[in-house]
Amino acid sequence: GNGAVGNGSVADYSAARAAELRGTIAHHDRRYHELDDPEIPDADYDALVRELRALEAQFPELIVPDSPTQRVGSAPAALFAPVAHRRPLLSLDNAFALEELVAWGKRLERVLGDPADDPVDYVCEPKIDGFAVSLTYEDGVLVRAATRGDGRVGEDITHTVVVIDDVPRRLTLNDPPAVVEVRGEVYMPLAAFAHLNEGQVEAGLPPFVNPRNAAAGTVRQKDPAVAARRRLSLWTYQLGALEGGPSFTSHTETLRWLATAGLPVNPLIETLATLDEVHRFCEARLADRHGLDYEIDGVVVKVDDLRQRDELGSTSRAPRWAIAFKFPPEERTTTLNDIMVSIGRTGRATPFAQLEPVFVGGVTVGQATLHNADQVRAKDVRPGDTVIVRRAGDVIPEVVGPVLAARPEGLPEWAFPTDCPVCGQLLVREEGESDTFCVNVACPARAAGAVIHFASRGAMDIEGLGERTVQQFRQLGLLGHVGDIYRIDWARVGELEGWGETSVANLAGAIEASKGRPLANLLVGLNIRHLGPTGAAALAKAFGHLDAIEAAPEAAMADAPGIGLTIAAAVRRWFDDAANRAVVASLREAGVDFGRIEEPSEPQVLEGLSIVVTGTLQGFSRDGAEDAITNRGGKAPGSVSKKTTAVVVGDSPGGAKLAKARDLGIPILDEAGFVELLATGVVPAPVAVAGGEPPP
Ligand code: IVH
Repeated sequence: GNGAVGNGSVADYSAARAAELRGTIAHHDRRYHELDDPEIPDADYDALVRELRALEAQFPELIVPDSPTQRVGSAPAALFAPVAHRRPLLSLDNAFALEELVAWGKRLERVLGDPADDPVDYVCEPKIDGFAVSLTYEDGVLVRAATRGDGRVGEDITHTVVVIDDVPRRLTLNDPPAVVEVRGEVYMPLAAFAHLNEGQVEAGLPPFVNPRNAAAGTVRQKDPAVAARRRLSLWTYQLGALEGGPSFTSHTETLRWLATAGLPVNPLIETLATLDEVHRFCEARLADRHGLDYEIDGVVVKVDDLRQRDELGSTSRAPRWAIAFKFPPEERTTTLNDIMVSIGRTGRATPFAQLEPVFVGGVTVGQATLHNADQVRAKDVRPGDTVIVRRAGDVIPEVVGPVLAARPEGLPEWAFPTDCPVCGQLLVREEGESDTFCVNVACPARAAGAVIHFASRGAMDIEGLGERTVQQFRQLGLLGHVGDIYRIDWARVGELEGWGETSVANLAGAIEASKGRPLANLLVGLNIRHLGPTGAAALAKAFGHLDAIEAAPEAAMADAPGIGLTIAAAVRRWFDDAANRAVVASLREAGVDFGRIEEPSEPQVLEGLSIVVTGTLQGFSRDGAEDAITNRGGKAPGSVSKKTTAVVVGDSPGGAKLAKARDLGIPILDEAGFVELLATGVVPAPVAVAGGEPPP
């Protein structure tokens, strides 16, 4: 038609781009399937395939038989003996949104006809982010375990799969079929993954990037003893060939049979009647994905009725009767533009990544902490690298590591700066310490941080004196150290742009009111190393007045209940510093109350208990839940340890916290249990949490 000329150049461009995409995808297929060493996250890979598929849809003449859109995986590596699958292991088409799920439903209708006449039931299964395996049982005995390979021929991995506890050597059936191929996913539970990586780091080996790579790397190596040490697990979800066995009419029946045969079937699987319900199931799994002790990257939706499946059939690549609803990616690649160092209120110099902003885990991430010098070295990330960025649930964004294949030649290693980027003085890292510090007490970054901390909620709680205002006032010379907060020249503030009468009055009032805060809050505000809210409360209770603490010898402090040697030494050292004593003097002069002891408003039923809250609760904000704990004498730390009494889980909890709690056998409570604990101080019987697996 007309426009052929214009289209010609577009088609030329498209052909070139399709060829390029095919090459790139083939490269990544090999990295993933053969080398177990993917360079890019799945989401980036999916984007390449989607682009190619879109081009091929627009220009069908571009489709070639060996296009990655037409086949599955890649040819098996030469390391292990090839195994021909009796029935191919297909891949799945993806849906990334409700509309794509609905479009799939329409395609089903086109083949199956009016759903009023032939209704469809859907089996919804968590999409396990692991390593696909095919297990062959002959007369009920495991004879072979194989990788997917190219879908037709895989590799023999029997030697590493037989050592997995979840993999039965023999099916628990009286009359087992002559031959059955069972398809499933080998995965590494999060606790096992964390444990494995701790060991890798201790041994000076690079950590595994994610549990899936760890599982793949474990199964695809020669030594069964290594595989046995790294606790792997299995979920099974599909049959391949079946000879001399029962005949099934639905997938639900098949799953029930798998379970009867002693094979692990995921307990979250549900059979649903409408795509609306299916979508709700997907949303629910997305919301609590981090409450599981294994990773899932979506939901697999399968037509239940096996006759309907036959009618629908498959393409060479994927069945039409199933679709993978993929969750938004939690890993993406981006450019590491620079590594910078920020100086905190204690002078700690923290390196952080300055990233080309990337949308990951539902937010745009432009910066991520790199924690300390050792972490940067262990990860070997360099400015100019392409890096993998991960943001999972309520966990802060993390730079996982570099994409080494994309590193420009000669890119220099990053060196920790020798001088403080703010004041220019020499940074200090002491023997045996992992952190580097700016030890200059007059460093502006430290001073600003100290003021912001003094005004923060857990300290003097001065509303309106946040980071922006502190920085603005400091730049104008209105504010230097903490003592200056009570000497701000309000007349000058009133002349500043954006500072009307009301805002001045509000901030001045908030500052005035803070003079009456309890001694424990004042102590927290002074920014003494090692002195947190619990230690501050103990000191306040024991000494009753800041002057008494200032005068107390170290030994007297160490004798006080709840104060250890570390805190006593740190407090003494702090007051021995003339600059700090000057701050105290200026607070005293300003009329800050040094002796207010707050009587607890709640019965101290949680004394000595440590309770970790994760996820969103209905009746408490995050701060509210922590206050409820500390007001009753308990501790509310941010992470789970051996000392944790109980873990309270709300919606979208942190997976690492839950996994660790399960690992350590710590009671897990829901909100009702939490309320009971607050009232009684007694840990109620733990409950099963949605999606949670009991500890092994
Ligand atoms: S069914 C023909 N069910 O996802 C159907 N696959 O992206 C083939 N996977 O190759 C697979 N959980 O390795 C199925 N519940 C589940 C799954 C699942 C994870 C993996 C499997 C598959 C890949 C496709």
